[in-house]
Amino acid sequence: MPDLDRSRLAELLAAEQEEYTARHPRSRELFEQGSNLFGRVPMTWMNKWSGGFPLYLDHARGNRISDVDGHTYVDFALGDTGAMAGHSPRATVEAVGRRMGDLGGITTMLPTADAQWVGEELTRRFGLPLWSFTLSATDANRWAVRLARLATGRPKVLVFAYCYHGSVDEAFALPGVDGKAQSRPGNVAPPVPLDLTTRAATWNDLESVERELAHGDVAAILTEPALTNIGIVLPEPGFLQGLRDLATEHGALLMIDETHTFSAGWGGATREWELEPDIFVIGKSIGGGIPCGAYGITDEVAAAVTRHTDDGDADIIDVGGVGGTLAGNALSTAAMRATLDQVLTEDAFERMGDLAIAFADGVQATLDELDVPWSISRLGARAEYRFTRPAPRTGEESAAAHDDDVDAYMHLAMCNRGVLMTPFHNMALMCPDTTRADVDRHTALFREVVGALFG
Ligand SMILES: Cc1ncc(COP(=O)(O)O)c(C=O)c1O
Repeated sequence: MPDLDRSRLAELLAAEQEEYTARHPRSRELFEQGSNLFGRVPMTWMNKWSGGFPLYLDHARGNRISDVDGHTYVDFALGDTGAMAGHSPRATVEAVGRRMGDLGGITTMLPTADAQWVGEELTRRFGLPLWSFTLSATDANRWAVRLARLATGRPKVLVFAYCYHGSVDEAFALPGVDGKAQSRPGNVAPPVPLDLTTRAATWNDLESVERELAHGDVAAILTEPALTNIGIVLPEPGFLQGLRDLATEHGALLMIDETHTFSAGWGGATREWELEPDIFVIGKSIGGGIPCGAYGITDEVAAAVTRHTDDGDADIIDVGGVGGTLAGNALSTAAMRATLDQVLTEDAFERMGDLAIAFADGVQATLDELDVPWSISRLGARAEYRFTRPAPRTGEESAAAHDDDVDAYMHLAMCNRGVLMTPFHNMALMCPDTTRADVDRHTALFREVVGALFG
């Protein structure tokens, strides 16, 4: 197995950095002019792109993005899943256009027939009978966590090390040495110490889950069906069923967040793997890029919530801490209806999944040929390589494999050659517009840039 030559990496990275800077004078100029934006960008995480300044968007359609310097990219980042339906899918744009134009009424505080259609469709795909809408997956998680606490009368949420569920206070936790959850490094000003709200366990380690549940204070296990925000860490056989069984045994709810793992198929991992969540969360992709999110609950959870609302000790209609003025607005429900009905269809998922297999095979071929100690994991339409072999089993193992310099080199080398990967990690997502030629292009470039490092 070849060792990583750090001085070669440094040289290659410097050359890619120079090329990136030279190719993007207009983006750089805009970044330098952004002095009225905190961090010079609309949201501070936009500084996560490698290269010292981000690309500035000019236009995007399907799986192509064009920047203000006139370069066009094959986009495998797809807005970190927000654009899994492709950029500005025609059906979504038409539905949104009708609502904004002829129909009017972007947000009115009134329900629409579209929302009802979407609720039925979410039930058909994911199984849960009752749905509420939000404007982001973060909000869906936050509000559903409140309902879980209300339904169970318990204070805490159990999460896995290196999970991500949006900016949900309870979720930025790691297992501490003393068995108590501790705040994850970098967590910005948590409102209370994490051990008051959270229990933290290790992915693929049912013993750690059982140990935490045994305290009897967990309202819900909040998890993705596979970790996707620290690379893809797949569940081992029996792990998800074990979670379901342990949750039931210890009186906790199972809350499955499919915001990213929806890539697993038309009905997400929940349908593919026959999961039985009590609460289900989704966001990002289902509105084709228009802000939206949703959470689904079982009849049992709804009954437990309603008992408290009937008693008058919880208010889910006025200002009880669940809801937002723009949630479920006519624009986002129109977008969800069109996207689910016409864009993210069963056929589309089949094609996207096949392309992700080809993508992963292409990466694996280079890793095998050059004996590179990396791995690639796939979940339906998404695939991600990680700088360690074998593929990590836990969030902790995956976090330990992170390498800032290799990461920056891969992102910049790909970007300079016309391919965008997700800035937060090395994820590639297929959308309905991705073609086999796009995947083959990535395969050839991956061989070239990895070959320069290890060849
Ligand atoms: C699994 C998961 N849940 C929730 C979220 C939050 O989504 P949003 O930032 O759209 O609220 C994310 C964001 O990456 C996510 O990966």
